[in-house]
Amino acid sequence: MRLMTCDEINDMRVSGQDYKAGCPPVDGEMLEDHGAAPEDGDDQVDPWSVSSSSAKGVDYDKLIVRFGSSKIDQELVDRIARVTGKTPHRFLRRGVFFSHRDMHQILDAFEKQKSFYLYTGRGPSSEAMHVGHLIPFIFTKWLQDVFDVPLVIQMTDDEKYLWKDLSLDECHRYAVENARDIIACGFDVNKTFIFSDLDYMGASPAFYRNVVKVQKHVTFNQVKGIFGFTDSDCIGKISFPAIQAAPSFSSSFPQIFGERTDVQCLIPCAIDQDPYFRMTRDVAPRIGYPKPALLHSTFFPALQGAQTKMSASEANSSIFLTDSAKQIKNKINKHAFSGGKDTVEEHRKCGGNPDMDVSFMYLSFFLEDDDQLEKIRQDYSSGALLTGELKKCLIETLQPMIAAHQERRRLVTDEIVQQFMSPRKLHFNC
Ligand code: TYM
Repeated sequence: MRLMTCDEINDMRVSGQDYKAGCPPVDGEMLEDHGAAPEDGDDQVDPWSVSSSSAKGVDYDKLIVRFGSSKIDQELVDRIARVTGKTPHRFLRRGVFFSHRDMHQILDAFEKQKSFYLYTGRGPSSEAMHVGHLIPFIFTKWLQDVFDVPLVIQMTDDEKYLWKDLSLDECHRYAVENARDIIACGFDVNKTFIFSDLDYMGASPAFYRNVVKVQKHVTFNQVKGIFGFTDSDCIGKISFPAIQAAPSFSSSFPQIFGERTDVQCLIPCAIDQDPYFRMTRDVAPRIGYPKPALLHSTFFPALQGAQTKMSASEANSSIFLTDSAKQIKNKINKHAFSGGKDTVEEHRKCGGNPDMDVSFMYLSFFLEDDDQLEKIRQDYSSGALLTGELKKCLIETLQPMIAAHQERRRLVTDEIVQQFMSPRKLHFNC
């Protein structure tokens, strides 16, 4: 009798009905990070679409169970504050970053003076990014500051070429334009490398070697299960997840980490990107690398309501970083879904519902002062604050914030972009 090879066993484990997206582990390392299979009526959350039937948006506690990640609880928030000696970012205080994988491991190592690096990314599908895209970058900048660690940012212009009706030149140009917005978030040039896949894949043998290693250890069945690819998807899509996985390994960046293959990676992103990293974490130990840790954020909702995320493909659902003060005002007044009552009398009597109100949700992402936010919540719930007044407060918060971003972006010269995007040594204390 012939014994089956490891690959055949893996194929069997993950084949057919056994391996629908999010199936429970059968055995062994391959399925470790996968939670229960989605049931009818569950929220849809994947890298291409996010939707919920609830006006309050995605049920994130349920998602943690389904994806098999861990909740960011008060104990973890307190620990981050203790280890860094800094007040936790409002995104941590308010549960915007709500889920993680192995963050305690990162902190254990950090307390023993073992450093790590940050990795995040952007798929440059258009010239303008929207406010929702800022969430992971604002938080990553805070992490870079408080932990003093290097950061790599992947611009997946190759991904957008494969998925969208765009030319390679357009995707590459968007990567550079989006890099300007990312740089305008304030990253430290001595600790940050931003790269376009189209440029770096060809320039870095070490990076490509890791891509190939991942490709060898993931089967077609597995990516079909994780990402829902079908037989008619082009082969570029099918192998792309290996390219998003490769930056999770320090040996992909010898110019930063030298010979080190063991520097652990921490990935801040919204939870839609988790399928890529479930796959990466499954593969990592089999190719001799540490699994990347993750911090997941909730979604910044569409103007029309929390049933969907803000998305660049829906122009009216989004406030873009290029919008003028007037456009911001008009979009919010016209489109922001309100949790208020139909008439002023009714609203004064019964109060509004901040949990369904998009303006209140946006303020909870961007208003720094916890007491002010709580007062707005109470006044809106009691009816003391009207929808128009709440929208005015949001407009007055977003207009200066986006104007300041536009001003910082204006100062990002071609030379500065070139500096960030050149493969080079970064400041790294291991
Ligand atoms: P992309 O360009 O779709 O999104 C970039 C980052 O923004 C997050 N995001 C959001 N966060 C909050 N609210 C929203 N409405 C919202 N929309 C998008 C995404 O989760 C992501 O963190 N394939 C990736 C690019 C990529 C990447 C990575 C992302 C490559 N490597 C590593 C994160 C980490 C993409 O197309 O992202």
